[in-house]
Amino acid sequence: MASKTVLITGGTSGIGAHAARLLIDHGHRVVVTGRDETKLKTFLDEAGHPDRLLGLVADAADWQATESAVTRTVERFGALDAAVANAGLQSGGSIGDGDPTAWAPTVLINVLGLALLAHAALPHLEATAQPIAEAIRFALEQPAGVDVDTVTVRPIGQPI
Ligand SMILES: NC(=O)c1ccc[n+]([C@@H]2O[C@H](COP(=O)([O-])OP(=O)(O)OC[C@H]3O[C@@H](n4cnc5c(N)ncnc54)[C@H](OP(=O)(O)O)[C@@H]3O)[C@@H](O)[C@H]2O)c1
Repeated sequence: MASKTVLITGGTSGIGAHAARLLIDHGHRVVVTGRDETKLKTFLDEAGHPDRLLGLVADAADWQATESAVTRTVERFGALDAAVANAGLQSGGSIGDGDPTAWAPTVLINVLGLALLAHAALPHLEATAQPIAEAIRFALEQPAGVDVDTVTVRPIGQPI
């Protein structure tokens, strides 16, 4: 499969970072975002492949930062094939015993962040004219541990 360009929000540690490394290992181009510049730099230094890996400081709950991350991805690599809304929080607990002060930031990242990324990314995903079947094939062909099939924003309304 030809190499793809994938933007992963919250890709400087955990699942996002692991997915980024696997995609890089398989020859794809990856852009990761995170809020902490030091953490981002550490990840980029460890991951290597600066020709195919770009890191951007961006808060996934912020519209300007998200729009800028998508724009810079396309400027750097020429297209966007998949956008992975990975940045998120798990506030834990139930309505009864959870911490209400954690709920607003959780919703802003987990819900608003997804919508912001979709809005910014969709025109570029549509521009790749990538049929849905091709996008699903790309997701299915990822190595074990890359869960892009469930969290990837893809072009809609295109024939299979
Ligand atoms: N681990 C699990 O068992 C599990 C289970 C189900 C779902 N999930 C979901 O999977 C995703 C990743 O989980 P994880 O365990 O890998 O998380 P993690 O280890 O805490 O890593 C989170 C990553 O996201 C970044 N991040 C956090 N908030 C951000 C924001 N507002 N904007 C941009 N980047 C942000 C962090 O960097 P900065 O702090 O520098 O921003 C970091 O790179 C999350 O959405 C989580 O809710 C995880």
